[in-house]
Amino acid sequence: MCVWRYYICVCIALTSLHTGLCQDSSAQSLKDQPREVYVDVGSELRVQCDDEPGEGMPVEWRLNGSVVQTGPLLHLNSTRLEDGGLYTCHRPSGGDAIQQIQLRPGYPPSPPDIRCWAPSYPNKALCTVSQTTETHLPTKYIITYRQWDTGTVYPCHIILTSVDFLCEMKDFETLASGPYLINITAINGLGSATKLMPFDLEDNVKPDPPVDVMVTASHRRRVLVQWRPPPSWPNPVLFPLKYKLRYYWGSSKEPVEVESYDSCVISLDSLKVGRTYHFQVSAQELMGIGQGSDWSEPVSATVSG
Ligand SMILES: *[C@@H]1O[C@H](CO)[C@@H](O)[C@H](O)[C@H]1NC(C)=O
Ligand SMILES: *[C@@H]1O[C@H](CO)[C@@H](O)[C@H](O)[C@H]1NC(C)=O
Ligand SMILES: *[C@@H]1O[C@H](CO)[C@@H](O)[C@H](O)[C@H]1NC(C)=O
Repeated sequence: MCVWRYYICVCIALTSLHTGLCQDSSAQSLKDQPREVYVDVGSELRVQCDDEPGEGMPVEWRLNGSVVQTGPLLHLNSTRLEDGGLYTCHRPSGGDAIQQIQLRPGYPPSPPDIRCWAPSYPNKALCTVSQTTETHLPTKYIITYRQWDTGTVYPCHIILTSVDFLCEMKDFETLASGPYLINITAINGLGSATKLMPFDLEDNVKPDPPVDVMVTASHRRRVLVQWRPPPSWPNPVLFPLKYKLRYYWGSSKEPVEVESYDSCVISLDSLKVGRTYHFQVSAQELMGIGQGSDWSEPVSATVSG
């Protein structure tokens, strides 16, 4: 299973997609399966065509079907990205390929960027991963976390979505003291790179925005704004949320903000008749830990007289 994003193919460890991660892997055994050869851009490549011993007949190398080198040695002084492709070694007289290699030029990974936050405190946290440099090669990530000084190592479970590379941490220790340490390792055919990052669950609490924001404008300038807590927040009773409502009209730069503790409705009665306002709501953990959510999408209403 792969997700293509920024040309990175992110593969789950279980797939057999790229079994030959190292240049000198087993692959010779399967004669009709091309051997994957990874090579650093700019470095030299030498591959000998393994003809049957003693045959001594002339051979040639073809790239994507066109002859690129006569003789048994495929030699590139300084491999470029454009040199990638399927190389096959043949007798000039024809016949099946004696040997096939899939050449994949690229770069080893650099330590990836990772950002984590907890929209489902205290049960779960999510992380997004991005590669800081383009490697031109399929890249696999191993992401784990553990309690800072001791503790079991837990995997960050990879979630495949069409847009983002996400993983989910859901094995937090209830009496954890101090931060966790996240270990992210990027691996491709040319190498690996690890980044270690401290992660404090409380500091990174960030609910998703409230949902179903509804604005009812009744007569006498009264406007009622209602919403529901973010569905991803696991327990609004045990871990209540507070809310902020903001509204603005026209292109005014300074919205008015109103706070609400633990209630999903705010009534406003000092708005101007005939004016159209835009309303947005944000949620934060009641005691103020972590950050507030992003604002919900604006909902508009015109105040009637
Ligand atoms: C490869 O490099 C060597 C030494 O730098 C040079 O003599 C040779 O001509 C080069 N071969 C090709 C095919 O560019
Ligand atoms: C060879 O074919 C592959 C796949 O079709 C393509 O990506 C690559 O650019 C081709 N290489 C050359 C040098 O034409
Ligand atoms: C980080 O994870 C990699 C890959 O699983 C592992 O080889 C490495 O030892 C880990 N490093 C630390 C400091 O835990």
